Amino acid sequence: MIIVLLGPPGAGKGTQCKRIIEKYNLTHLSSGDILRKERSDGSELGKKAQSFMDSGQLVPDDVIISMMVSAINASDGGCVLDGFPRTTVQAVELDKALDSENKKIDAIVNLQIEDAVIENRLTGRRSCPACGEVYHLETLKPKKDGFCDKCSDQELVQRPDDKPEVVKNRLVTYHAQTAAVVGYYKKSGYKIFNVNADNEIDKITAEVFSMLDGLVAV
Ligand code: AP5
Ligand code: MG
Repeated sequence: MIIVLLGPPGAGKGTQCKRIIEKYNLTHLSSGDILRKERSDGSELGKKAQSFMDSGQLVPDDVIISMMVSAINASDGGCVLDGFPRTTVQAVELDKALDSENKKIDAIVNLQIEDAVIENRLTGRRSCPACGEVYHLETLKPKKDGFCDKCSDQELVQRPDDKPEVVKNRLVTYHAQTAAVVGYYKKSGYKIFNVNADNEIDKITAEVFSMLDGLVAV
């Protein structure tokens, strides 16, 4: 099963993906997480991506497409794509790449949320640099303040692109370049499962699971 999870920055893509992959035994392929790993490894790709990410712009399509197509091809079984595709060019190239492997997208989930809600979510986000677990200063606190529940003694960090001025740019980028991906999929005949992402985390998960359970049962 290949699932595409769409939605603006801070919609909760990463949060929901962690739950989806556990339940359906899929691989989580987050373009943002892969880029951050490349950066912390000091790779050429990571260096190329750095300035785009830190200013809230998109990393160039050619870099992202080859990175994500390799990751998809390397993943055994199904996967959830989180943060990819983010432009219509990426969506077209993903379709071509899947086609050539006789694969297809089984479900597209679109997390919908207003910009006004997003700022607080992102500025309050903290994450574990070791396992990637995501927390929030108010809505999803770790058991011990500032430390990951899963990795003992691992301090949580704030992403550099979660500063208020960068969050604003990321939203501008989303509306200018990424929102159109939903239109691309609609036009191509895909069914899009829209979910209200301004809701409790568990309720969103339940809604997504009930849709995916329907697919698995077919
Ligand atoms: P990426 O890492 O993908 O960032 P993003 O899309 O901006 O999304 P986020 O990870 O910020 O948010 P999320 O939706 O995962 O929310 P989360 O679950 O963490 O990309 C980073 C950068 O990499 C991009 O800006 C770009 O430069 C580059 N890049 C990546 N992919 C690219 C591509 N395809 N092409 C070009 N460039 C690319 O939740 C956020 C917070 O809210 C957390 O604290 C969480 O606890 C909380 N929360 C979640 N759900 C709820 C809820 N329902 N109620 C209350 N709080 C909640
Ligand atoms: Mg994320």
